[in-house]
Amino acid sequence: MTTETSSKLLDGKLITNKIRDIIAGEIDGIKKSTGIVPGLAVILVGSRKDSQTYVCNKKKACEDVGNASYEANLPEDYSKEEVIKHISKFNSNHSIHGILIQLPLPRKNVDGFHPLNIGCLAMQGKEPLFVRCMSKGCMELLHRYEIEIKGKRAVVIERSNFVGMPAALLLRFPFVLTLLSLFEQ
Ligand SMILES: *[C@@H]1O[C@H](CO)[C@@H](O)[C@H](O)[C@H]1NC(C)=O
Ligand SMILES: *[C@@H]1O[C@H](CO)[C@@H](O)[C@H](O)[C@H]1NC(C)=O
Repeated sequence: MTTETSSKLLDGKLITNKIRDIIAGEIDGIKKSTGIVPGLAVILVGSRKDSQTYVCNKKKACEDVGNASYEANLPEDYSKEEVIKHISKFNSNHSIHGILIQLPLPRKNVDGFHPLNIGCLAMQGKEPLFVRCMSKGCMELLHRYEIEIKGKRAVVIERSNFVGMPAALLLRFPFVLTLLSLFEQ
């Protein structure tokens, strides 16, 4: 174990832009080699301002890297059945590879909430389809700054299922999830 005591500020914005450029290149490669454009569908129920901003940023990010985002804006008073109908429609659409919604969903839930994904994350040698983006983002920052985690002790100051728990699991069994690996399955 090393006993490094110096601190370093990691620039998330800088890394984000670098990663977006790389992803744009990867998507371009996938388009050329397979004809597939990775598509993300976003389902927004209701009209909360913060949710709208969140969805808007995701769509913008999608446009920056590949132009394939799909959106369903459903009114607040939509019934559960109607929401499920929209999810099923996106789920069976071959142009759509990931669905973003505030609820847990099977398989295509890119938020990585499904127990299948969390379960795989917790097991050595198993790879989840999707990982919580904030936790993955923390790992990515460490990786980009070439901070070796092997043999080190780490402290995760956050214990939720949303960020802290997946981050702790990733620190135990880091793995690399590439875009292309999703399409080769
Ligand atoms: C997305 O579409 C716009 C307008 O058609 C185009 O200018 C831009 O290059 C496209 N971006 C990508 C990453 O394909
Ligand atoms: C998939 O969804 C897009 C956007 O809603 C639509 O244009 C396309 O026709 C759908 N494809 C299928 C196979 O339903």
